[in-house]
Amino acid sequence: MKKILTGIKPTGVHLGNWIGAIKPSLEMVNENSKTLVTNSKGYFFLADYHALNSMFDPVKLSETVQEVAATWLALGLDPKKSVFYRQSDIPEITELATILAAFTSKGLLNRAHAYKAIQDRNQEEGKKDLDDGVNMGLYTYPLLMTADILAFNADLVPVGEDNTQHLEIARDIAGRFNRNYKTETLKLPELVVRKGAMLSGLDGRKMSASYNNHIPVFTPEKKLRKLIMKITTDSTPPEEPKEKDANTLFSFYSHFASPDQISQMEKKYQTGIAWGEVKQEIYEVLSEELKDKREIYEHYKSSKEDLMKIFKKGAEEARETTIEVLNEVKKTIGISF
Ligand code: TRP
Repeated sequence: MKKILTGIKPTGVHLGNWIGAIKPSLEMVNENSKTLVTNSKGYFFLADYHALNSMFDPVKLSETVQEVAATWLALGLDPKKSVFYRQSDIPEITELATILAAFTSKGLLNRAHAYKAIQDRNQEEGKKDLDDGVNMGLYTYPLLMTADILAFNADLVPVGEDNTQHLEIARDIAGRFNRNYKTETLKLPELVVRKGAMLSGLDGRKMSASYNNHIPVFTPEKKLRKLIMKITTDSTPPEEPKEKDANTLFSFYSHFASPDQISQMEKKYQTGIAWGEVKQEIYEVLSEELKDKREIYEHYKSSKEDLMKIFKKGAEEARETTIEVLNEVKKTIGISF
């Protein structure tokens, strides 16, 4: 059976994350989907120790983890079929990270993109200390991520393009370990670049929290409508026929509407429709699509007990694998005998 594993950064979830990342990941383990990987099991986890590197407010951190967990559950993650857990509940991950540190050259982490980006920024800003603002958690992020993956002997790791290098680092470290001990104890994971669709944000650029052009998935109805009304458009008059290709509103609508609704909208574009009307229709399909999901979201967000039950079960299932892998690793390195 193939293990499909991916980590979830506990930061707010917007519509672009849903369409581009969550949906394609869940579809890999969903029987009704065309992209199902047969004979596979999903391992989805909240990378809460990764979040700690940049979130030092305990209330904010725990709230965000709860919100993000509730969002994934509401968007279709089935904890009965997939293993859903928190990174911090699996002590073998951090233990393995310590072991693998011995097989990780410092230079490898020096070359990691996220770290280099901060150094470049510091340089541009004329700072003397290029490591200004870099803590060891951030610096060793790729190492912990490697342990996240290798502790499970994961086969496939769906991630966004921005994580390609992290996967190379994981394979590099696993390979070095295996070669040193002449074993195949650690499985080299395969990268699957998620083939999610790209959703445009309010300003027409790719939706991203760092551009601040995003719409949170479960933003309250009123706010949702307000944000949709803010999507930039040109000044084509209402009655003029409109081009649907490469049109932000049309593509936005297509992600949430049914094929029938889409072809009706196509006709309206041909005969002319006011942008405000298109936005209203986007709001309506989206709010309908989110109705039941919103209920599930609100339920989990306000029921810590139910979330904890799911995390507990997830951790138990996850550790069936990680305890075994770690035992094997400890034997291999000569720590247990
Ligand atoms: N780095 C991933 C991201 O940017 C999150 C992540 C943490 C992850 N650990 C992982 C992804 C392990 C895949 C496997 O979202």
